[in-house]
Amino acid sequence: MSNRTFTMIKPDAFSKGHSGAILDRIIQAGFRIVAMKMIKLSPEKAGEFYAVHKARPFFGELVEFMSSGPIVAAVLEKKNAVADFRLLIGATDPAKADAGTIRKLYAASVGENAIHGSDSDENAIIESDFFFSGLERF
Ligand code: RTP
Ligand code: MG
Repeated sequence: MSNRTFTMIKPDAFSKGHSGAILDRIIQAGFRIVAMKMIKLSPEKAGEFYAVHKARPFFGELVEFMSSGPIVAAVLEKKNAVADFRLLIGATDPAKADAGTIRKLYAASVGENAIHGSDSDENAIIESDFFFSGLERF
């Protein structure tokens, strides 16, 4: 069980001005922010990040969306971080997300679903390294 996960506040939530409220929820839920930055992904970088979905029909839309505006990328720390964070953000499809989850509150659709959370300890490390270096220092 790892104590770190990786998140991105996606362009839809960022452009609607929800970043502050979302970060507040994350902190109130007991996560410590280990590293954080605002960045705009190029289509190439977005495609690299979601390379696992390359063969899926929604890949083009996903890359276009994720590179459409600024995001906030962050590494978070908490006991059981990956699983607890997935519970906090809710189901991929906001229509199926539990009440009170970040996606239920801030996401409009499966494609534009406000926030990302790593799905495994292994991917949390890969994704954190994709955006940040030297995290041991924190
Ligand atoms: P994420 O990686 O962004 O945290 O989302 P997730 O684990 O809940 O879902 P995943 O299966 O990894 O899908 C990645 C992102 O692709 C978009 N998607 N669109 N149109 C569609 O049917 C569809 N399915 C997935 C979503 O933005 C999803 O978050
Ligand atoms: Mg995923």
